[in-house]
Amino acid sequence: MTAILTRRSIHSLSSPAPSDEEFAYLLKGAAAAPDHGRLRPWRWILLRNADLKAVGACLAAEAEPEERAMIERNFMRAPLKAVLVFSPKAEHRVPEWEQLASVSNVAYGLMLLLHSRGFGSIWRTGRLCQSPRSRSLLGVHPDEQLLGSLDIGRPGASAQPARRSLEDITDRVQFLRT
Ligand SMILES: Cc1cc2nc3c(=O)[nH]c(=O)nc-3n(C[C@H](O)[C@H](O)[C@H](O)COP(=O)(O)O)c2cc1C
Repeated sequence: MTAILTRRSIHSLSSPAPSDEEFAYLLKGAAAAPDHGRLRPWRWILLRNADLKAVGACLAAEAEPEERAMIERNFMRAPLKAVLVFSPKAEHRVPEWEQLASVSNVAYGLMLLLHSRGFGSIWRTGRLCQSPRSRSLLGVHPDEQLLGSLDIGRPGASAQPARRSLEDITDRVQFLRT
């Protein structure tokens, strides 16, 4: 409960980010999430430094001239972007929506694990999901879908929001009182 209520999406992230090895370790944990058929219909592409710059340049090239500098800057905001690719198994008995639900389980588990290790993260979608140039540079296949990325790093000092309180969800739970 503590991990769940203290995790927040962190916009301001700085170095260090987890190493490739630590990311892989945490992802192994997150991969234990419920996954119908154990299909693992996902993959991650880790971007740092020059790779961030290269993908940011793709996004900027697709934008209006006055937006380009801001887009490139924004794409470099976190030291690590873990791009999430949905790779559904086509015509499988497990329908695509269930496979997508499994991907979401992994992403949230990973965010919780990162948080438990003192890393902040935020799932960002936006332009990256619609960018043909980025798809091509990242090697995303036509039958795959870009689901955005997790920005990962150390939370800035100002980014330590208060523990969330438990919200009232009573109108979201029904009972069939037969
Ligand atoms: C699928 C998905 C896509 C998201 N895309 C964005 C985004 O593009 N930009 C952004 O600022 N936040 C994005 N978020 C983060 C949500 O805005 C954030 O989780 C929400 O505001 C709740 O904040 P919390 O995570 O601190 O509880 C996304 C979250 C999810 C699950």
